[in-house]
This record gives sequence, C-alpha cells and structure tokens, in this order.
Amino acid sequence: MTAADKIEAAKERFGLLLKEQLERVEKMKAQGGFIDYKALDRIIIGVCAGDGIGPAITRQAERVLQYLLKKDIESGRVEIRDIEGLTIERRAAENAAIPPAVLEEIKKCHVILKGPTTTPRKGDPWPNVESANVAMRKELDLFANVRPVRIPEQGIDWTFYRENTEGAYALGSKGVNVTEDLGVDFTVVTTQGCERIIRAAFEFARANKKTRVTAVTKANIIKTTDGKFLDIFREIAAEYPEITADDWYIDIMTAKLVDEKRRKDFQVVVLPNLYGDIITDEAAEFQGGVGTAGSANIGKRYAMFEAIHGSAPRMVQEGRDIYADPCSMIRAGAMLLSHIGYTYEADLLYRALDVCTVTEKKLVITGRDTGATGAEFADYLMDTIEKMKNEEA
Ligand code: IPM
Ligand code: MG
Repeated sequence: MTAADKIEAAKERFGLLLKEQLERVEKMKAQGGFIDYKALDRIIIGVCAGDGIGPAITRQAERVLQYLLKKDIESGRVEIRDIEGLTIERRAAENAAIPPAVLEEIKKCHVILKGPTTTPRKGDPWPNVESANVAMRKELDLFANVRPVRIPEQGIDWTFYRENTEGAYALGSKGVNVTEDLGVDFTVVTTQGCERIIRAAFEFARANKKTRVTAVTKANIIKTTDGKFLDIFREIAAEYPEITADDWYIDIMTAKLVDEKRRKDFQVVVLPNLYGDIITDEAAEFQGGVGTAGSANIGKRYAMFEAIHGSAPRMVQEGRDIYADPCSMIRAGAMLLSHIGYTYEADLLYRALDVCTVTEKKLVITGRDTGATGAEFADYLMDTIEKMKNEEA
C-alpha cells in the first residue's frame, strides 16, 4: 500500500468512529431523567465478584449489605442477586469484554456491586479484550464516576466527579496505526457528555452544601476537547451563583494535592476521564491507599459500585486473598446504599468503618497472615454496627 492509500484507509476508519460517536450523541439527547428508586417495588442489586482477590473481598461486602438490608430482603423490597461469569477466563474464552449473556443478566438489575476484574495487558496469557470496567461504564452509560476521599483529621473532604464515558477512554482501544511508524489515538468530548457530568457535580455540591467546585483540565494545550469541557464548566457554573467555581490545570493540581496548606480548600472536583483516573489514585493514597477507596459509577438508568484498585492476582497466587482488605468494596457498598435511598444504613456503615479503621482499630488488616482476614474484619464491622444501633435505640 502506498502512503496515500494508508491515509485513505485511516480516514475511512476515522469516519466510522465519528459516525458511532454522533449516534451516541443522539442517544444522550434522547435520554430522560434519573431513575427513581423510591418508585420501585423491588430493587435488584446484582453482585459480580470479579477476578483475583475480587471474590474474597466482594463476598465480605455482600455479607455486610445482607446484614444491613436484612428486613427489606425478607420483605422482598430488595433482592441481592449473584451474577456469575464476569471472569477473565470466560471473557477470554468468549473474546468479549463482557460476555453477552452476563451483560443481559446485569441489565436486569438496577445497581451492581462489582469486584475488580483483570484487564489484560501485553505479555499476559489472555487475548487483549477490553477492560470489563471500561466496557460496563460504556454499555450501561455510567457517565459519572464519583470518588470521595475523606481524611477528617486533616480536614480533607474531597469528592471527585470523573467523567466516565468519554475523553481518552472513549476510543482507547480504537486508535489507528496509520503506517508502521505513525500511531494516532483519539480523545472525544461532546456537549452532552460535558454538560451531564458538570451538572452532576454542581447538583451534588448544592445538595450537600459544598461551596466550591473545581474543574481540572489541560485546556491551555489540549485546546479543542479540554477547551470545550472548560467552556461548558463556566457556562454551567453561572447557574450556581452561590458556589465558587475555579479551574486548575492537571499538572499544578497534582502538585496542589500534596500541598498541605492548600489542599484542604478543594471540595468537589470535576474532570475529564483520564485526569480523573490519575488524580483519584493520588488522592486515595493520602487516605491510606487505593485499597481504602470505593467508587460509584452512576448513570441515569444504572449504577455500578466498585473498588478503585485492580484484582491483585499475586495475592491469590501466594494464597493471601483471604487477607485482602475488603474496605474498598465495603465502602463501595456504602455508596450503593446511599445511592438507592438507604441513607441511614449508609451512614451507620461509614461511621462503623471510621471506628474499625481509625479510632478503635481492634483488628488490623496487613494483607498477610500477620493481620486479620477479610471475614474477621467484616464480622468486627457488623458487631460494631450492632453495638451502635443498640446504643442509639
Ligand atoms: C479505575 C481503573 C480502571 C480505569 C482500569 C482498571 C481500567 O484504573 O477504575 O480507575 O482506568 O478506569
Ligand atoms: Mg484508575
């Protein structure tokens, strides 16, 4: 093929991608409002245990949910349903990011608690299937990735609103090698995609009496897509005059998060996908590591709750999965409870987590047999909640 032919082939490929993205825009335009859980007779919580340490920690989070929702599970108002098959073995065998039959089961639920899933990378024995996380976020249109980081003793109370369906991730596995020497990836931003995530961040701020929303971009360099995100941020900010809106570039923002004097001032942060991915790992590290952080992936019809870390296959190989810290998944469970309207139960759980991991700390998780198992920790947590309930009664 001549260079000119290769350019033509790349253009054709690009044209198809643009068409798909414009179809996505039309879907977003046609979308209604958020689902109202209160109006449902029955809420179905699907549980996908995942790979590696996923089953070990997800089962503990599931036990805690079963305990907190006991009454409503018995009455039939809530169902917790195990969904099998979101494993790397099955995904590899079917060469699918999410096996179609599994996706169908997932779509029958309202919310999903999902354990970490393995994302193949070069050198792995698996075919190069797309990340199950990324696929699920796209398939269920979970556009808001909400990641709170709280360190009360340091005055830190951040909520990150990471855009979850666009940016560098939208076509992350669809770049083009135009020639052997030239590779091009694409970053995608849409008016609808920016509006819905930025509005979600401001609505959260307003509902929770937060006084500041910060946008993070690199709009000085990535002028078209980050520029659009920032323009829309300013437009929407004008509708929330009681909230201070400011913006930072991603490089200086990563630095400011380390600045102990300034970082307390951030409250709600809204940002495109890749910057959100990076900065939320940094932020979680201050709180005690990615193992402590949960993450909510929220769309209008579906929502999915997960840990922000990976499946840690090495822990399983070394037989240490029972010692893996289930706090990230339990926190994801707390976010799930609050999202579907069980705010009292969610609050109990957050408070008990503080007791068990900060103030009382009768058990410590070390990730190996020098510490407690995940099951022992979950028992301790449920005992603590039981005591708190009795004291309050
Ligand atoms: C996250 C993870 C995922 C991401 C990976 C596992 C695909 O890092 O949830 O932050 O990049 O979004
Ligand atoms: Mg990440």
